[in-house]
Amino acid sequence: MKIAIIGSGYVGLVAAGCFAELEHDVLCVDNDATKLAALARGECPIHEEFLPELLKDYRGNRLVFTDDLCGAVAASEVVFITVGTPPGPEGGADLSSVEQVAREIARGVVLGNGGYKVIVEKSTVPVFTAGWVRRVLTMSGAPRRWFDVASNPEFLREGTAVCDFLCPDRIVVGVNSERAAEKLRAVYAPLTTGAYYRRADAIPPPDNARIPPPLIETSTRSAELIKQASNAYLALRVSFINAVANLCEATGADVDQVREGLGADARIGRRFLRPGIGYGGSCFPKDLDGFRDVAAQHGCDFRLLDEVKRINAEQRERFLRKVREALWTLPGKRLAVLGLAFKGGTDDVRESPAIAVAGRLLAEGASVVAYDPAAMPRARKIFAKEAAAGQIEFAEDAYAAAEGADALLVLTDWEEFAALDLGRLREALRCPVMVDGRNVFPPARMAEEGFFYTSMGRPAAEPRRALKVKKAS
Ligand SMILES: NC(=O)c1ccc[n+]([C@@H]2O[C@H](COP(=O)([O-])OP(=O)(O)OC[C@H]3O[C@@H](n4cnc5c(N)ncnc54)[C@H](O)[C@@H]3O)[C@@H](O)[C@H]2O)c1
Repeated sequence: MKIAIIGSGYVGLVAAGCFAELEHDVLCVDNDATKLAALARGECPIHEEFLPELLKDYRGNRLVFTDDLCGAVAASEVVFITVGTPPGPEGGADLSSVEQVAREIARGVVLGNGGYKVIVEKSTVPVFTAGWVRRVLTMSGAPRRWFDVASNPEFLREGTAVCDFLCPDRIVVGVNSERAAEKLRAVYAPLTTGAYYRRADAIPPPDNARIPPPLIETSTRSAELIKQASNAYLALRVSFINAVANLCEATGADVDQVREGLGADARIGRRFLRPGIGYGGSCFPKDLDGFRDVAAQHGCDFRLLDEVKRINAEQRERFLRKVREALWTLPGKRLAVLGLAFKGGTDDVRESPAIAVAGRLLAEGASVVAYDPAAMPRARKIFAKEAAAGQIEFAEDAYAAAEGADALLVLTDWEEFAALDLGRLREALRCPVMVDGRNVFPPARMAEEGFFYTSMGRPAAEPRRALKVKKAS
């Protein structure tokens, strides 16, 4: 099938690569000339497993990048809108890019001269957006019988986006016409029939994948609500376990043990019950706000969501208090920071709690030496002023970041941090102090390895053996 993707960001690029992998012909549109030039040079602008390979395999044949939105729409049967929907000034999503794109899509529908098209919102949008998109298209001259508007929210997670796209827990398709439903069923048929997974060259599905994935058909309004409700619920679980972790600290319990007992209940499950410095990223904070805004606009009192947000903000403050408690005063201290991305596996630093914490430490007069496996180029831009002033440096690996630091702080749950050589880290540090905001290491091991170790919701650990005093350098 001929597909257009409007917006080549995290979602758009992954969708484009994966639809090409499913043997569709994809025109991937963006209005960012720099991004298009990078894509044309063969670069992959985001850090995402399997994506470089997909772009390499299909670029120039089944996958074409272009800035010609109108032409791409005219040539396609299904058009996915994947532009950003950032937070607006009032808490709800800013849908101006979606509206702008809808106007241009209308011109493409007209240019298509009667070829029926399904315009699909894949960006996360509030309920009733499909109705607005339909109205904008009609008012911009697209004849009503030439198109339908559908909702197909995306549930991929950055870091595992390609696998999530190709092996989703479910595919939600919100449609208000059988004709649109048929087109979207055909788009996803390689997945829903299981045909893709039988291919010898298929990207291997994760062990726990539900194959083939179910396709859930709903109205457009329900699909729009499913996406925002899903993200709000996941954020709620994170805040819930963070509140439980705080209670564990107050009572001397251990959140790891509590999580194990809690998550073993099949009704609850283990996922998204990891305490830390709070959720972040470009989705949870904005989608929670957006959902709250939708509820308020429709007269529903959803104060539970305010509490989720409050606990999340408080979690960073708790972490900063732990750092102060571990180090007494901060001005002049040199702090090694491991992790800047909003979570492990991605280079995305949007709404990253790690960036926020690093910023606060700098503002309090500490200096920071940071390391992140993928997010440093983006973080460098954010901290350009502080870097120029010599307040923040970026290290080439975790050991270099630790060299001569007064403490090491873990701010992102990169898997590779768990495999670090703790003896080498301890030797590099000026003082063997670690404050782990992501519970990457077991406290008992940290005591064995000679660290003063604090984490989230678990008892603090101290070196089991007397410390060797380091000579001042
Ligand atoms: N990032 C995620 O993990 C994720 C997951 C699920 C859903 N979503 C949702 O998907 C949407 C996109 O998110 P993203 O992270 O991919 O955003 P992004 O900012 O990475 O990408 C958006 C892209 O759209 C392009 N764009 C903007 N206006 C355009 C226009 N008029 N014409 C052509 N291109 C245009 C931008 O240049 C950019 O490349 C958002 O609504 C987000 O909430 C994101």
